[in-house]
Amino acid sequence: MGISPMAFTFPLIFSYLPVLTAILIIIFPVAESYTSIFSFGDSLADTGNFLYLRANDDPRVGQSPYGQTYFHHPTGRFSDGRLVIDFLAQAIGIPFLPPYFACPNDYDFRRGVNFAVGGATALDPEFFDERGIYVDTNYSLGRQIDRFKRILPSICASPSDCRKILSEYLFLVGEIGGNDYNDPFIMGWTIQEMQPLVGPVVNAISSAIKTLIDHGATTLVVPGDFPVGCSTAYLTMAHSHNKEDYDPITGCLKKWNEFTEYKNKRLIKELDRLRYRYPHATIIYADYYNIAMRVFRSPHKFGFSKGALTACCGGGGPYNFNVSAPCGTTQAKSCNEPSSYFNWDGIHLTEAAYKWIATGLMEGPHAIPNITSAHSSV
Ligand SMILES: *[C@@H]1O[C@H](CO)[C@@H](O)[C@H](O)[C@H]1NC(C)=O
Ligand SMILES: *[C@@H]1O[C@H](CO)[C@@H](O)[C@H](O)[C@H]1NC(C)=O
Ligand SMILES: *[C@@H]1O[C@H](CO)[C@@H](O)[C@H](O)[C@H]1NC(C)=O
Repeated sequence: MGISPMAFTFPLIFSYLPVLTAILIIIFPVAESYTSIFSFGDSLADTGNFLYLRANDDPRVGQSPYGQTYFHHPTGRFSDGRLVIDFLAQAIGIPFLPPYFACPNDYDFRRGVNFAVGGATALDPEFFDERGIYVDTNYSLGRQIDRFKRILPSICASPSDCRKILSEYLFLVGEIGGNDYNDPFIMGWTIQEMQPLVGPVVNAISSAIKTLIDHGATTLVVPGDFPVGCSTAYLTMAHSHNKEDYDPITGCLKKWNEFTEYKNKRLIKELDRLRYRYPHATIIYADYYNIAMRVFRSPHKFGFSKGALTACCGGGGPYNFNVSAPCGTTQAKSCNEPSSYFNWDGIHLTEAAYKWIATGLMEGPHAIPNITSAHSSV
């Protein structure tokens, strides 16, 4: 109220967003050995929290065509179907992870739960307030971890009991941090101006991991960010007339991808530090960047016949992404075959893309350490 429709729509789009970052891993036989999953993150892993929390705002993720491919109705997932976390749950042989906020009072949290909320940032809202950046979320990673601590007494009885029980779960920490850059990006910040956010974001992720390990987690999967220069939203909004700004093979924005690589490198280095500090824990880096880059380099080879940069569902323009006509509104149109697209709504990916990523992580060399070695160290 008091906010013009445009001002409202604009941040909302991105708050849904996580940007392209992502998640996952694990080989099936290993996966079967976990009791369940505890998940933290943003819209790349949200299975319904944002929709539940913001139902009164009538969010677009609650509209058709979200969910059309697999669930045949909107579930709050920011895709046409399943997310990487859903494929992982299926691989483990457990039900889809319920969204924490929508759980009934008598829900048994030992069955695992999902704290990820669309729009969530790695850093707390105060960090942004102090810098005059508007972020449309109250569910930072730290606050998700706080909720986890609150449910712990219903999962285990004492610190030693918790260490025993939590060691049987898989912890997904991320992707998280994409939104910390999206909001400043929308405000027009340059890459140089965003560089100083990377350290604090990586520290926030590290601190979440430490808390989880201190409580008993021993297997954690930590995804890096997707190449943001290949994001349909960034390609549209950071459009350049200079051909040199684009990678001739992928069509992605080179400088933005370098920014993601910089952030991922800092994260990888921090994970090395944590492995040294907690030798008993298995910290798996899920390399979303390189797994996605394989598709961006040759989308047709992997079944994405419409290419990887154009969104299936959107309001027109060169990449079918229009901030004023986002997917889920009547001005946007959806493609007939989402499975031939990698990008779903300009910001998030299609079920086909998430399936490809999940499979690649389970079978390919995109989880470090690989699952075989992770398994033997458990
Ligand atoms: C966050 O919480 C504050 C205080 O409860 C509230 O005023 C604000 O509207 C909330 N913001 C969002 C995006 O939910
Ligand atoms: C974006 O959507 C708005 C609102 O529907 C429309 O007026 C505008 O022409 C669209 N822009 C493009 C490039 O399609
Ligand atoms: C997994 O890692 C271990 C230890 O680094 C290595 O010996 C093995 O060859 C790797 N396996 C695959 C499939 O990459």
